[in-house]
Amino acid sequence: MIIIVPFLSMLIGNILKMFNLSFCSVSGALHKLYIPFRTLTSHLRICRYSWTTHKHSLILQEVYMFKKCAFILGVLAGLMLLVSAQSAEAAQKAAVKKVDPKTCYECHDVVQGLHQSGKHKGVNCISCHGGLDEHLKDSSKRPEVFTSWDACGACHKEQHGSFLEVSKHRPARDEKSQLTNRAPNPFWDKLMAPHGFTKEHALTRSHGFMLLDQVIVDRAAGGRFQPKNGWMYVNEKPGKLWDSIVDTHPESSDHKPFMRQTAAAVNPVCFQCKTQDHILDWAYLGDPNVGAPFSRKSNPTAMIQTKKLQHGLNCYTCHDPHAAKPRIVRDALIQALTRPEADTLWHKDPNRTKIEVIDMGMRGYTRKIAILEKYDATLQCGQCHVEYNCNPGTDAKTGEKVTFDDERTNHFPFKDVLQLYDHYVNQIAFIDFKNAFSGAPLWKAQHPEAETHYNSKHAKAGVSCDGCHTPKMINKKTGKKYTSHFAVTPREHIKESCLSGGCHTGWTEKDAIYSIDSVKAYTKGKMRKAEFWLSQLIDKIVEGKDKGLSEDVIKQAQQQQLKAHILWEYWVAENSDGFHNPELARESLTKSVDESQLGIKIINDAIAEMKKAQAAAK
Ligand code: HEC
Ligand code: HEC
Ligand code: HEC
Ligand code: HEC
Ligand code: HEC
Ligand code: HEC
Repeated sequence: MIIIVPFLSMLIGNILKMFNLSFCSVSGALHKLYIPFRTLTSHLRICRYSWTTHKHSLILQEVYMFKKCAFILGVLAGLMLLVSAQSAEAAQKAAVKKVDPKTCYECHDVVQGLHQSGKHKGVNCISCHGGLDEHLKDSSKRPEVFTSWDACGACHKEQHGSFLEVSKHRPARDEKSQLTNRAPNPFWDKLMAPHGFTKEHALTRSHGFMLLDQVIVDRAAGGRFQPKNGWMYVNEKPGKLWDSIVDTHPESSDHKPFMRQTAAAVNPVCFQCKTQDHILDWAYLGDPNVGAPFSRKSNPTAMIQTKKLQHGLNCYTCHDPHAAKPRIVRDALIQALTRPEADTLWHKDPNRTKIEVIDMGMRGYTRKIAILEKYDATLQCGQCHVEYNCNPGTDAKTGEKVTFDDERTNHFPFKDVLQLYDHYVNQIAFIDFKNAFSGAPLWKAQHPEAETHYNSKHAKAGVSCDGCHTPKMINKKTGKKYTSHFAVTPREHIKESCLSGGCHTGWTEKDAIYSIDSVKAYTKGKMRKAEFWLSQLIDKIVEGKDKGLSEDVIKQAQQQQLKAHILWEYWVAENSDGFHNPELARESLTKSVDESQLGIKIINDAIAEMKKAQAAAK
């Protein structure tokens, strides 16, 4: 070092002189560039000063320069050496740690097929797996899977960066039953009581928050998990779940209400649509008793307490990590697409994307993924933005309890709203809960954006969810085109969505927003009417019961309530207020009014009949 530094300084000094530059002019430029290095720059300033005071003496300057600037260069060179030595060391370390995939392929032939088939062929296993040395010594020692978005973000910066963006276009925990929201009270609580969603049902927030919002919502775990920093949490950046929450009752795993007016209604199936951190610990459909650490029957509070669930919506939910090909992993969607009835919207779509289902399980239980022949956001987003059943309930035919032993507790119909009564009541005979006032058997919808989008005008025009919600963007610095992974209302990127690709040419951004708001306003009006008539029907059934109408008549009216309820509640759970399919929304909501009115008529007729009979008896 002692010999190298002055030698290097002299060498560089001479090279600089050849270009009529000096250490000091270079250091002056460096100074401007590198303000943060305060101590270093103070030396550089001395250097510049020396240049002016001693410019009359070239020799002196040479000597002074050498002394002062050699010092600076020495520091610089030293730093450079240190950095390069360190990165060499890191590279060496990585080189040592890199595994030869062939050694892995010997036991992992399915992964071999995937890894060699796609663009990740050159990406080493160590990018996403840890503890491989131990695993190679003893294969029963399970290696680590890096489940964080950061593991992919190391190489895919734009997708990673946009994925974690946050929109504040509405507040956190914006309760749906507020007067101006999608399901205003008093109807919401009346029509849904006593369902857990009457405790808290908030509108959506950005993707990065999904697991956090799920765990702390008042209906999930009885209020036991709370944000560590109180209400400050709403402005925290998306991150790991346990960096944000605290368990207020670590002494127990009881899954029960801890705070007033909360419910403990979350269950292990719900997590399937929030995180895949436990992808290897969950058998196909969450089947219990097959040896997987988690199943449909697990205690959800205890699952959260393991701290294994940390990241909402992992990148590998939509991308196969080994093949870098589009895929789906949500078990109930794979079940729906492969069930023998072949009765889903996907089956009936002549242009459907082909899927290849692969059984990955190698821990003694089945785990399935499905590789898609091409990107298909309707299926990929449809892993969660879909109607599904994730609760225990009652068998519509036998009246017996349906528990988590039954696969119907993890089920996708993947049909549109007009087919759902038949699907739930006649085909799988599943009923969710009973209305607290009328006693009617009811159903709770979950966000069916995918099914609503099928057969819409936009779907027929070849536009899918990504075209409107996660469109292509250009990185302003590099000019590189990429898919924005920031899933948000198109209002935040009207130009890249509605006004792009030759769609709606001639529209301004205002025009696009005006058209969105118009469809929404019309549909919301229809929702309010459906709620009014459902409420009337509930009152009528109560009246009918009071008047002692026969059980048969009450049952008929209750079935009318169920029909009307499905045709209405679907749109409360759906998040576009009809925008995704205005025609279907109108058909469904007006039909809901018809079904309610028919139910009211059944009771009114029976009451009239009863009065007539009573009059005749007198
Ligand atoms: C001698 C056979 C063998 C070799 C070689 C081998 N594995 Fe495994 N691997 C297994 C077995 C068996 C399991 C299942 C372990 C279990 O469930 O207990 C497994 C499981 C895994 C898992 C899943 C971990 C989990 O959470 O279940 C990963 C990831 C993995 N191996 C990666 C690798 C990589 C990477 C290599 C190469 C560096 C490799 N394996 C080499 C036999 C092997
Ligand atoms: C880009 C990230 C990434 C790379 C690279 C990667 N893996 Fe994986 N691997 C994962 C993820 C994520 C999982 C969890 C299961 C899944 O997503 O399907 C996984 C799961 C596995 C499993 C368990 C599969 C099962 O269901 O039993 C094995 C075995 C495995 N990897 C082996 C390998 C081997 C061998 C390599 C290198 C040739 C490799 N992986 C490279 C991300 C990766
Ligand atoms: C070590 C770097 C590295 C890591 C880590 C990595 N990738 Fe990649 N990925 C690549 C490279 C290289 C390509 C090929 C790029 C190309 O052809 O343009 C690629 C391609 C892709 C593609 C595009 C495939 C296509 O058909 O165009 C997807 C999607 C992808 N990766 C997803 C992921 C996901 C998800 C993860 C994390 C589970 C991940 N990657 C982790 C390096 C990486
Ligand atoms: C793993 C399940 C899952 C997948 C897959 C998924 N989402 Fe979401 N999405 C959610 C959840 C859960 C929320 C609500 C999060 C919250 O409120 O914390 C959400 C919220 C949204 C929102 C509302 C954001 C806001 O600002 O309120 C949009 C838009 C959205 N998703 C679009 C998409 C699109 C488009 C895709 C496919 C590219 C997709 N999602 C894939 C689960 C998912
Ligand atoms: C909800 C599904 C979904 C999730 C989750 C997801 N992606 Fe994507 N990804 C897509 C879709 C859809 C495309 C668009 C492909 C197309 O249109 O060609 C895409 C494209 C890509 C591409 C190809 C290049 C490009 O920009 O079009 C890369 C790389 C990628 N994603 C990386 C990631 C990473 C990294 C993550 C996690 C931070 C991630 N993805 C999470 C659905 C998803
Ligand atoms: C033709 C464009 C378009 C397509 C295709 C589309 N959406 Fe939307 N989506 C919208 C508009 C417009 C809204 C209403 C946004 C608003 O009012 O701010 C919306 C609302 C949503 C919301 C609620 C967003 C919020 O901030 O409240 C979610 C979630 C969503 N869509 C998911 C999806 C999914 C999943 C798909 C694919 C199955 C899809 N969308 C297809 C345009 C589209």
